[in-house]
Amino acid sequence: MEKNKMRYSLLTGVAAISLILTSSNIAARPVGSTEVPSAPAIENMQDVVFIGRDDLLGFKDLDEFDFLYEPEYISALVKEGKLPPIWERLPKKPMVLHGDAMPDGIGEYGGLFRHTIGGRPEGWNWVASQHQGWGGINYVVQECLTRTGPIVRLKSEDQYPLPNLATDWEWSGNSLTMNLIEGVKWSDGDLFDSEDLRFWWEDNVLDENVPTRMSASSMGEGTSLEILGPNKIKWTFPQVEPKLNLYNMAYINGCPGPSHLLKEHHPKYEGSSYDDYIAAFPPERLPWVTLGPWTAVNYQQDEVVVLRRNPYYWKVDSKGQQLPYMNEMIFQLKTWSQRTVDTLAGNADFSNMENVPLFLDAVKESKSPDAQAELSFSGRTMGYHLFMNQAIGVGVLDDTMAAIRDLNRKLDFRKAIKHAIDGKAIAKAMSKGPFAHVYAGGIALDSAFFDADATAFWPYDPSASNALLDGLGLVDTDGNSVRNFPNGGGDLVISLVQSRDSENEQLIGDGLATMMAEVGIKVNLKVMEETEPVRQSGEFDWLIRRAEQEFAFPFTSFWTRLGPVDNQNFPSHLGSDEYPQQLRPFEKEIVSILEKWREGVEGDEAQKLMSQYQKLFTENVYQPGIVQYPTALLINKRIKNLANGMPVLAYQWAEDTVMREHFWVSTGDQLDELFPGVVPGIN
Ligand code: GLA
Repeated sequence: MEKNKMRYSLLTGVAAISLILTSSNIAARPVGSTEVPSAPAIENMQDVVFIGRDDLLGFKDLDEFDFLYEPEYISALVKEGKLPPIWERLPKKPMVLHGDAMPDGIGEYGGLFRHTIGGRPEGWNWVASQHQGWGGINYVVQECLTRTGPIVRLKSEDQYPLPNLATDWEWSGNSLTMNLIEGVKWSDGDLFDSEDLRFWWEDNVLDENVPTRMSASSMGEGTSLEILGPNKIKWTFPQVEPKLNLYNMAYINGCPGPSHLLKEHHPKYEGSSYDDYIAAFPPERLPWVTLGPWTAVNYQQDEVVVLRRNPYYWKVDSKGQQLPYMNEMIFQLKTWSQRTVDTLAGNADFSNMENVPLFLDAVKESKSPDAQAELSFSGRTMGYHLFMNQAIGVGVLDDTMAAIRDLNRKLDFRKAIKHAIDGKAIAKAMSKGPFAHVYAGGIALDSAFFDADATAFWPYDPSASNALLDGLGLVDTDGNSVRNFPNGGGDLVISLVQSRDSENEQLIGDGLATMMAEVGIKVNLKVMEETEPVRQSGEFDWLIRRAEQEFAFPFTSFWTRLGPVDNQNFPSHLGSDEYPQQLRPFEKEIVSILEKWREGVEGDEAQKLMSQYQKLFTENVYQPGIVQYPTALLINKRIKNLANGMPVLAYQWAEDTVMREHFWVSTGDQLDELFPGVVPGIN
């Protein structure tokens, strides 16, 4: 535990001492709440070796390379005249990943990298919010203005977003001028330039008819983008130097799509309707065109997505070898649990181990001498919240739903629900090992920003829960053991949305239904294939949802999910033009903390803000915490260049953190490719 915390402190550059400083500023906890019980230690954790930004990567003029390398099958196509030579495919100044920073050094070309995932690709129009099945496909095809995953490897003073499509930037008051990498080509050879950015921002983010991940106000109300040239853009924000907006420009927000293809279906150009624009790029429309290291060439529904090397990829190693090292990447479409099973068995190469019921066996298996995969744990940085929908109007389908919203907005009701949750019992049901633990909600236990003194934990206490519910006039008036809405109302039946493909969620959902029945609330479980559409539309009463990186590393691209700073990123309180958010006083305080956060505050000030946030979040039981647990990264032993101690979830998911474009496998260990020699769009 101690070591763990140290590591995360280092990761965010916050000295442990600031914890002590801020704690004394926090007043006593409200009656009925306690400290969070301490958690058992976790084994199998590795230390990160921190390096400088410039040690990791940089940009270098093509002329300065004595030689440039590419795999032989690519050279053969160049000779046949089917592909331009490498110096014409690379940008003027490619990004260089330095060999000295690669854990196993400069790599060899060839081979296949296998993922198993539980998601299914929606389509390729990520600019209009479509996802590609998660589990690492999104990260392969979407390249963004900045990059945050690998920040985990950097020394504390260097921990801020890395360049990517934006090579460098300059702040001046409330404007930010960015230079874009010059001469990068999409995987079909079309030039990438500021028009792709303009299209993304003006014709998508600002166009209310297009659902986008980032909203027009995510970086501050009134944010504008100006095109200064083919490779220069200028942002103007309402705030002075809102440094955190650099995180918003990383995955999953600031990632332009190929405008030369998207425009064909956008109604402002040649498209017929917005519905068509969104539907026009299904997974089978192949090969898709990206700026990423691999590009999809084959898709078999519920079976596989195959991606092949992008011959125009714009990153090289310091020897001058064009990246990626591996020729092919496949995504076997199965379930999330199968991802771990396949990786342990050596049938896949990568798994973020999140399914707590599998943990004990996985630890045992990874210790056997012929284990296929290496396993390393990160701290308790993931958990589950119960989202109690507190929006008025948004997604309300009938009067009962509206009445439940009113209840969800009452502090006593949320306290009652938290008191009814036996987190310990759920943790036990999930796993026998020392993994899962009770969760107060908000900042994760092993985050550097966790402040025990600022955290109010409302323990399992059914009688306290019953008393609060009685006090709200929710009593069983018809003797069927289910409480009724006040004044002769019907039974208090609440629907709880959960995802089908997660053993964690199934256990939690069943546990919650039983626990709520004990205090007279009937829960109807609504098990869905995917909960994302409901999170976006707000059509739910309650929903079980993973607490992700924002609660462990609040400096992430996802920090706007910490509270209702905009209309669309905080599902427990969405807003719309028709139903603007109606923030209660504590929510207004949370929003003002987060607006301050946007400035990119550091050190003690950052710690203090997060403590204030946590106090408001947990004292108001904004989203009751259910359980929290560690995660472990499992990677096949033949894979080289995996740095030690890479967390499953930090600034991004591990798929971005580990930089798969520099993974390689020794020739003797390389697996046969499914489509050897295939180059997207060429043969
Ligand atoms: C899903 C998985 C995570 C991770 C992400 C990547 O959410 O559950 O482990 O792979 O996809 O986007």
